[in-house]
Amino acid sequence: MVIVMAPEATQQDVDAIVDLVATAGGAAFVSRGVNRTIIGLVGDIAQFTNLNLGGMNGVADVMRVSAPYKLVSRDNHPERSTVRVGGVPIGPGTLTLIAGPCAVETPEQTLAAARMAEAAGATLLRGGAYKPRTSPYAFQGLGEEGLRILADVRAETGLPIVTEVVDAHDVELVASYADMLQVGTRNAQNFALLQAVGSVGRPVMLKRGMNATIEEWLMAAEYIAQRGNLDIVLCERGIRTFETATRNTLDISAVPVAQRLSHLPVIVDPSHSGGRRDLVLPLTRSAIAAGADGVIIDVHPHPEQALCDGPQALVDDDLAELAGIMRDFPPLMGRVPA
Ligand code: E4P
Ligand code: PEP
Repeated sequence: MVIVMAPEATQQDVDAIVDLVATAGGAAFVSRGVNRTIIGLVGDIAQFTNLNLGGMNGVADVMRVSAPYKLVSRDNHPERSTVRVGGVPIGPGTLTLIAGPCAVETPEQTLAAARMAEAAGATLLRGGAYKPRTSPYAFQGLGEEGLRILADVRAETGLPIVTEVVDAHDVELVASYADMLQVGTRNAQNFALLQAVGSVGRPVMLKRGMNATIEEWLMAAEYIAQRGNLDIVLCERGIRTFETATRNTLDISAVPVAQRLSHLPVIVDPSHSGGRRDLVLPLTRSAIAAGADGVIIDVHPHPEQALCDGPQALVDDDLAELAGIMRDFPPLMGRVPA
């Protein structure tokens, strides 16, 4: 952390900062220029955050020079991590396809979607039992009944389950069925939920908040990590911009940026970003080309009857094309399908 003093700052102002930093257990190094004095602080940034340094006399600016997240930062963990979900790796060197219905509706629909996902090369099954809907009148998911259906389909297909939890009170219950917990875009800064999923001992997929900067996304991941869980996969799912032609704007640059800042695997959701079936495969190709560690894709046996997000679900010939992408693209990026 660096403190820039105002030109009119006095020696007394500088001494007060040096003393305060020392009291907090850090060290302050004063460097005097012609017009300005700069104070460099050395120590754990957490020691300094509550000191209100910006409010002290003579201070013009306080600048951070290291990232505010530590556990998920690549600075402290240079090797990129691999997270295993029911034995399936997500991380560097592999390309993982997670696919399934947006929402679990019936046992038949979920099993049919799982078979479609498998045929396309998926090794993990997605499916929401608790749906975060904009409208309180929209289908909210089957709740625990949906979790039971997912567990039955896992038993039938062998595919480990990724499913969303929307309420901190449901974390234990969802974790008792799921192989990986999903925190969605709408809850990406629900700090109580992040702490709860960090404590329950299951891998977590953390979607990027639709209005979150990459730093805010990584700070959200830090909440999970701080509770002792480093099995976190980041998921870029599109952000809100002025553009209305797509449901959200897929921020493809977030993939290499997040991978450079954090050791955590980064995957992409082309379904919720584009919001339209015809965009899912082009966005999938771009995600893989950008270096994503995996993709998560909605499929549905009858999208026209889907209770949630039918327009973005892949069906029929799309699946064969997705299988082709999963066969041909990973080797181009030096990866093997996971
Ligand atoms: C995801 O599956 C969400 O629940 C869904 O995309 C929300 O869509 P809505 O805004 O139509 O409720
Ligand atoms: C989902 O994947 O089911 C979902 C709700 O996505 P998002 O949180 O990205 O909207």
